[in-house]
Amino acid sequence: MRISVIGVGYLGAVHAAAMADLGHTVVGVDVDEAKIAALSEARAPFFEPGLPDLLASATASGRLRFTTDFAAVADADVHFVAVGTPQSADGDAADLRFVDAAFASLLEHVSPGDVIVGKSTVPVGTASRLAQVVAERAPGATLAWNPEFLREGFAVKDTVSPDRLVYGVPEGEAGARAARILDEVYASAVAAGTPVIVTDYATAELVKVAANAFLATKISFINAMAEIAEVTGADVTQLADAIGHDARIGRRFLNAGVGFGGGCLPKDIRAFSARARELGRGDSVRFLDEVDKINLRRRDRVVELVREECGGLEGVRVAVLGLAFKPHSDDIRDSPALDIAMRLADGGAVVTATDPEAIANARRRAPQLAFVESAAEAAAGADIVVLITEWPEFTGLDPEELGALVSHRVVVDGRNALDAERWRSAGWRFRGLGR
Ligand SMILES: NC(=O)c1ccc[n+]([C@@H]2O[C@H](COP(=O)([O-])OP(=O)(O)OC[C@H]3O[C@@H](n4cnc5c(N)ncnc54)[C@H](O)[C@@H]3O)[C@@H](O)[C@H]2O)c1
Repeated sequence: MRISVIGVGYLGAVHAAAMADLGHTVVGVDVDEAKIAALSEARAPFFEPGLPDLLASATASGRLRFTTDFAAVADADVHFVAVGTPQSADGDAADLRFVDAAFASLLEHVSPGDVIVGKSTVPVGTASRLAQVVAERAPGATLAWNPEFLREGFAVKDTVSPDRLVYGVPEGEAGARAARILDEVYASAVAAGTPVIVTDYATAELVKVAANAFLATKISFINAMAEIAEVTGADVTQLADAIGHDARIGRRFLNAGVGFGGGCLPKDIRAFSARARELGRGDSVRFLDEVDKINLRRRDRVVELVREECGGLEGVRVAVLGLAFKPHSDDIRDSPALDIAMRLADGGAVVTATDPEAIANARRRAPQLAFVESAAEAAAGADIVVLITEWPEFTGLDPEELGALVSHRVVVDGRNALDAERWRSAGWRFRGLGR
């Protein structure tokens, strides 16, 4: 099929490359010239495992190209819109300016019979509003909404082999045809038995935010238990193991720690709350405000632990391990790690931070921090080591070897990812969250 992808960031670049890899002919369009220049040379503009190989092979096949020129979409029949929907500068709601601008540019070039497929995460009601815009400016084209569930760090696998496909389509033949076309786009996943849910726009939009709200709630639930564990002497990791054995609960997403961040969960739950309030149903998801607060309190707790262990922050040498919001990504959007590193520095600590992939992004956001290339360099002379992003490079550290480098053997494990006994036996004072 001939496909265009509008917005080639973390979602769109992977989607474009994966669609070309599946055999479609794809053009990726973005307003960011630097990103397009990198992608045109088959260079990934961000770190995502597997993406460089995918870009190289798809580009070599001649089926993938990138441009800033919207006119190039005229060659395609299916147009995916994957632009950003960040939190508004002045509130919790999603900022839809990029979506509206992308549709305005795209609709100048679509033809009757084309299918436009929204992938961005949007507030419920957006697709039906945009369907009106499509009907006015590109009569004969059909809008579908196909939310994306990929996880950064596993984006290539999740795009090629999703665990479900959701198509929000209008009623009638146009919607049925759009669903058939999406089945063709995703033919290999459909043939592999991937569940396909064909539904209306509102359900498709809500599936995405409901999934993120559920995951955020599960994380904040265990972090709330961590807060209780901290004042009772209980161990939240054992508690999670024990309740996780209940198949109705499950152990995944029950790792207490500094909580969630990134370009999706935080802004998605805030946008969901804001949209529910607009709809007069703010009460229905008011718990998400609490989920958000619990999540942010865990960052305060790490700062408090450092202060407690070092008798204050002024002049304390802190080694911060991790800057990305999660391992296997260079994404620092709403990263708990970077936030904590900045707060420690604001409090007077001398922070030396490291991350296998996110230093360049972090340096742009927080030039006041000192960045080094390895955990060993960060730990040299440190009064305290704080692990915040659980990269294997950090969780696999040898406490004996690291202990030889620091001034004081004190570690805060912000992800409960280290073997506490092993670190204690190597002479470390060990502080976890909720244990
Ligand atoms: N990153 C993820 O893991 C993920 C997963 C699922 C859903 N989503 C959703 O996908 C959307 C995109 O997220 P992302 O992480 O890829 O964001 P991103 O910021 O990495 O990428 C967005 C891209 O859109 C481009 N853009 C902005 N305005 C444009 C316009 N008018 N025309 C063309 N391009 C334009 C930007 O330059 C940028 O490259 C968001 O709605 C997000 O919530 C993201």
